[in-house]
Amino acid sequence: MKILIVPDHATAALRTAGTIMRQIAGNPRSVLGLATGGTMEPVYAALVSGVQAGRLDMRSIRTFNLDEYVGLPPEHPQSYRHFMETRLFAPIGLDRDRTALPRGDAADPAEEAARYDHAITAAGGIDLQLLGIGANGHIGFNEPTSSLSSRTRVKTLTRRTMEDNARFFDPHEMVPRYAITVGIGTIMEARSIVLLATGGTKAAAVAAMVEGPVTARVPASILQFHRSVTVICDEAAAAHLQLRDYYETVHPGGRQPDAGEGRL
Ligand code: F6R
Repeated sequence: MKILIVPDHATAALRTAGTIMRQIAGNPRSVLGLATGGTMEPVYAALVSGVQAGRLDMRSIRTFNLDEYVGLPPEHPQSYRHFMETRLFAPIGLDRDRTALPRGDAADPAEEAARYDHAITAAGGIDLQLLGIGANGHIGFNEPTSSLSSRTRVKTLTRRTMEDNARFFDPHEMVPRYAITVGIGTIMEARSIVLLATGGTKAAAVAAMVEGPVTARVPASILQFHRSVTVICDEAAAAHLQLRDYYETVHPGGRQPDAGEGRL
């Protein structure tokens, strides 16, 4: 695992966007695995700026998002499809056919989950998977005790995740209890992974993921077994890391000169 520690969320988001830009520059037809959530908003804003300034061409990529709430149609303002359309796909003019999220309103969510997993394989797999992390250590919506080799499927959200998400819903609305999420086994098949974590609420989860035992209790800890993971975190999210001196020695200021940072 590469651990990059940068001062704040804005810098972490720019570094993450830089990693995505380098991936697309290296292979314009990259298949990207994408995440939603507050952490990702400035990442997508940076990509949109890059496209609008003519520095980045995303027209040939394909995307697969991690998850969608069961029961929400694509046009629902809290659906993850709507999130992606407004934050990234529409502003960069990405052809809808090149984007994929599970259908939250599918008649048979279990069948939809299996179809989605096969679609990722049929596309040749994910080249670069973007991940956030839940305060409870989840990745995608693989909540604690998820099978570490799970495939895309329907998961029941924890009370904590529902509470974390409740702020996005109107007070009278029901926060969905179930989501279709790409499985941990499926995530682990991505050729490379970048996980972005910001804010003090993520500090315990980040420390458990990076320095704790590999356990289904902290689903993100399985990433210790992946050969190409970069964790980008801000100071607040890095606060509980015990081996911080080492990470700073390897990547001073969170920089990766070997990846050509500073050029994009
Ligand atoms: C969303 C997803 C989740 C989020 C995580 C962090 O597609 O897969 O795992 O990345 O819940 O969410 P935020 O960024 O809102 O803190």
